[in-house]
Amino acid sequence: MFPRAQESGKTVADGVYTDAQAARGAAVYDTACAGCHRADLGGGTGPALRDQRFARQFAGKDLRAFFTKIATTMPRNAPASLGDNVYLDIVAHLLKENGFPAGSQELTADTLDGVGVLPGRSKPAPPIGGFSYVEVVGCLAPGPQHTWLLTHASEPVVPAAGAPPPASAAAARPLGGATFHLLDAMAYAPEAHAGHKMYVRGLLIKLPDEERIAISAFEMLAPQCGAP
Ligand code: HEC
Repeated sequence: MFPRAQESGKTVADGVYTDAQAARGAAVYDTACAGCHRADLGGGTGPALRDQRFARQFAGKDLRAFFTKIATTMPRNAPASLGDNVYLDIVAHLLKENGFPAGSQELTADTLDGVGVLPGRSKPAPPIGGFSYVEVVGCLAPGPQHTWLLTHASEPVVPAAGAPPPASAAAARPLGGATFHLLDAMAYAPEAHAGHKMYVRGLLIKLPDEERIAISAFEMLAPQCGAP
């Protein structure tokens, strides 16, 4: 799976850039790239440069391929305009943001080859946006006007692609302090589960004063629900 990397055995986990280099790269990234890819790399008009997207596009490739993509096609409105050293600095910043450690040597045009790109390391998940497909666990409680709430709920997480609900990891997830208004809970016979620890998957809708989930999966995890 890492053909070039196997030759040298070296990967982006081996400290292939320095902190000072990543800091320089961060400054350029903010002016030249963040407008389209967002300061947190989360993606805007350009794709996300982290997480699953990063893994899918670049993991298993050579670091030079990642560099070349950036150095020859980005910024999209002025490709190849920044100079190789600046692009190297930006690559350092992107590696850092994807959770790879700094080392003692700067990344140079000569050290790009044969370095395998790995999927990014999980960092604290970035805040989840307004309309995301999420899963949470919490306590089912009746709300105002025949609505239903999930209280003492965990922070929402984006389920792994293709994971059937409830992901076993979700079942073990501890309760938290969030409250979600459940949309269309009536379709799931909620009375039978009042006070139970529930797993809910669905579309998160963030409003200024409350967060709602349009349910797509709803399952009981435990017949009681202790406050955290
Ligand atoms: C004007 C908007 C814009 C700017 C500015 C911009 N990009 Fe992009 N970028 C895009 C778009 C759109 C794509 C997807 C199409 C493509 O790959 O060319 C993309 C693709 C990429 C990709 C490939 C990601 C993938 O998953 O396919 C990388 C890496 C990247 N950009 C890095 C950068 C860096 C680093 C900078 C700053 C030097 C930058 N971009 C500036 C719009 C932009």
